[in-house]
Amino acid sequence: MLNPDIAVAALDPARIAEAEKLAAELDLPMAGPGDQYHMLLRYTGKGLELVKQGDPNLAGPVRVEFTRGKAAFRRQQQKQEMLVRAIGFKGGAPPTVVDGTGGMGRDSFIMAAAGCRVQIFEREPVVAALLADGLKRALVHPATTKIAQRIRLTACDTVYALLEIQRSGQRVDVVYLDPMFPERRKSARVKKELQMLQMLVTCESSPEHLLTAALATAAKRVVVKRPLRAPCFASRSPSHSLTGKTIRFDVYITSSSVQTCIP
Ligand SMILES: C[S@@+](CC[C@H](N)C(=O)[O-])C[C@H]1O[C@@H](n2cnc3c(N)ncnc32)[C@H](O)[C@@H]1O
Repeated sequence: MLNPDIAVAALDPARIAEAEKLAAELDLPMAGPGDQYHMLLRYTGKGLELVKQGDPNLAGPVRVEFTRGKAAFRRQQQKQEMLVRAIGFKGGAPPTVVDGTGGMGRDSFIMAAAGCRVQIFEREPVVAALLADGLKRALVHPATTKIAQRIRLTACDTVYALLEIQRSGQRVDVVYLDPMFPERRKSARVKKELQMLQMLVTCESSPEHLLTAALATAAKRVVVKRPLRAPCFASRSPSHSLTGKTIRFDVYITSSSVQTCIP
């Protein structure tokens, strides 16, 4: 379902003022006791989380979590991450990165853990709010403070943000994109968290606009995450790809010419 009705709530009484501030910023209602909404964005003692009401398959809350679980493990393993190789970091000075599809921030966190300064853009306000909350918690956790300090988040559309970067003459080495995988939208195997994201993200920019803006901005390369067998993004062939079991990273070296995909 697209455009779900969402309200903000505070399960933790200490966070009511914060919840009211967020509701005003996002122009969402505050949920009262017993109110039924499609989704709840709620403050708990563990942080800001999104829950879908009345769906047993999506029962658990979705929260951005960098300090424990899979994210913490991947942070420790970041040197082996294919993503770090895809952005061309082999040691020396880490590249500066724009992550143009912030989502839950996992990929950004890996790049920041490798030492990169990462500017995230996320245009869906609810997703950006979840991400901002996860980053706030990561900033005060001793294991992740330094990594989180390398990340900046702006809630806006990446196409406009990249044009602004070009206008201001700011240098960015790498633009990273991880667009939604439309071909998996109906799959029962898609994880709970991704299903929630897919419900929130009502439309995405045209792939052509996003890739064109990325190619015009990145001084070194653009990296696009794709499902292993998906066609290339915006029908443009990459310079090369790094392939894993289920995904691949298409790398567009911006100093060389970019060809059009041959069907
Ligand atoms: C598949 S998710 C990215 C997941 C992310 N790589 C991670 O590690 O969590 C794609 C995200 O990109 C965002 N997005 C898509 N087009 C965008 C645009 N033009 N500007 C900003 N965000 C965009 C969507 O709102 C969505 O949250």
